[in-house]
Amino acid sequence: MDENKCYFQHIDIPYDPKEMTHLLERYPLIDSRFDFMEINEIKELLPSLFNWFESKDLEVDHVFLINHRPYFKQDIHRDYVEDEETGPRLAINIPLNTEASDAVTRVYNIVGDATSNAKRRTENSVIYSKFEPEQVTKVTEYFSTGPVILNISKPHSAWNNTPVLRGLLTFRFKKDPVNLIRKNT
Ligand SMILES: [Fe+2]
Repeated sequence: MDENKCYFQHIDIPYDPKEMTHLLERYPLIDSRFDFMEINEIKELLPSLFNWFESKDLEVDHVFLINHRPYFKQDIHRDYVEDEETGPRLAINIPLNTEASDAVTRVYNIVGDATSNAKRRTENSVIYSKFEPEQVTKVTEYFSTGPVILNISKPHSAWNNTPVLRGLLTFRFKKDPVNLIRKNT
């Protein structure tokens, strides 16, 4: 399976939603956040989710907690991937609040040989590559209704097109969760 053919896929994960409530009690939604989290702390808060990761042989490498203010539109960007050829590049994103489920994430292809300007998110120095709208074409989009596998090496942009704060967790793994990808999409 060439995981680079995957843009995104919804995925069912049988975690206990109460765990997300506990996380939101500790980290209430705010206007803007892109926080690098301690894996052990998140594991303690979300035991059923981590049990599922374990059952699928997924070893978490990074966790980020992200909050977006109402109507915030993210730059079109690719996230930093250690190796462009081998990845890992498939993240699992899990929304924290159903109130923002109308938020949309768009995924794009790069037009021709357009190259990006590398940027660093100021608060934690995470590198990402920004693209201008004319450098990409939209391929697909999804709403923030549940967990998704997202190919973060494709240009993408989240738009919290809602009147409420939006929260999500994004998990990056030591190896791509290729076994979770359905082959026919
Ligand atoms: Fe991203």
